[in-house]
Amino acid sequence: MALEAIRYRRGSLQILNQLLLPAELRYESVPGVERAWRAIADMEVRGAPAIALVGCLSLAVELAGGSEAPAGGSEAPAEDAAALEAFVERRLRYLLTARPTAVNLAREAQRLLAFIRRRLQTPGVTAQGLRESILEHIEGLLEQDREVNRRIGGHGAGHILCHLPEGASVTILTHCNTGTLATAGYGTALGIVRALHARGRLRRVLCTETRPCNQGGRLTAAELLHDGVPATLIADGAAAAAMRHRGVQAVVVGADRVAANGDTANKIGTYQLAVVAQYHGVPFYVAAPSSSCDLETASGGDIPIEERSRRELTHLQGVRLAPEGIDVWNPAFDVTPHELITGGIVTEWGVFAPGELRRALAERAALAGGQQ
Ligand code: MRU
Repeated sequence: MALEAIRYRRGSLQILNQLLLPAELRYESVPGVERAWRAIADMEVRGAPAIALVGCLSLAVELAGGSEAPAGGSEAPAEDAAALEAFVERRLRYLLTARPTAVNLAREAQRLLAFIRRRLQTPGVTAQGLRESILEHIEGLLEQDREVNRRIGGHGAGHILCHLPEGASVTILTHCNTGTLATAGYGTALGIVRALHARGRLRRVLCTETRPCNQGGRLTAAELLHDGVPATLIADGAAAAAMRHRGVQAVVVGADRVAANGDTANKIGTYQLAVVAQYHGVPFYVAAPSSSCDLETASGGDIPIEERSRRELTHLQGVRLAPEGIDVWNPAFDVTPHELITGGIVTEWGVFAPGELRRALAERAALAGGQQ
């Protein structure tokens, strides 16, 4: 059975509490937006696509008025379509305050609101009809995300292999968790690893433990083991040595936000991996759905970087590691400058050099707009 971060059926949402992994597999009920906000802020669910999905699906639970939806202040208006739009906008705006760096939830919120505005222009639209179409729109995101990830996996694997001798197998180094647990399934960077494995071309994946919260050591390691993918866990500080001694053919990471010039925010430690990869001549890839690309943000310097609790560094699973009173700086993300992304940015539409991204995405968006 595949590990799943998100379990949804109309009126009911459950998330796997990732703070407890790998020791305990516990699903928590998310009856609405307030609970989703807390799950996102506390990192019970994490990873840019999964954050967007849980945010939107928690709103769907409220809209469906399922048995688990909270009573009281968060009840969606039943009679008035314009009031329903205002309700959705208010709930999305609140969700967006949970974590600042990943852009996917903001992108899905924009898309949902644009969808609602189009529906409101349909003659005779009722609140009931609008609510049903919002639910269908949100519910469609789960399968869309899985499909996007499979396409990223195929493009990325193809690109890595086409630069290698026929039949060669590869060792990939990855950071953080970008797999099933960070998405609706399959994963982005880890989707590329899965695609290489499925083609029989993956020798091994090295996953960094990813301090301070150990998404690599706890989550990626658990996923890879669960799926029988040959994997080795390394300390974050072992990446340079791994590139020197273990024959790494590519570094593949995810993204929380890709700016218009290709600068990429991802889990803290990504930037230093890119520097080390360049020194060793190892291609560095960012795997990101187009929903992680933010053409309104010109460059990495404009991306808000979340700073998290000092406790994430001073403690591990509740046990104090660092002395009381030590000063702490704990940014959750860093920005990799586009010139270090030497392999390319892998999206569902193909692999682009950072400098091509803006044009490629604008063209695709125009095409999609024309098809609607
Ligand atoms: O703080 P997190 O665990 O939410 O950070 C996650 C990452 O940085 C991931 O690499 C990124 O969100 C991409 S997940 C497909």
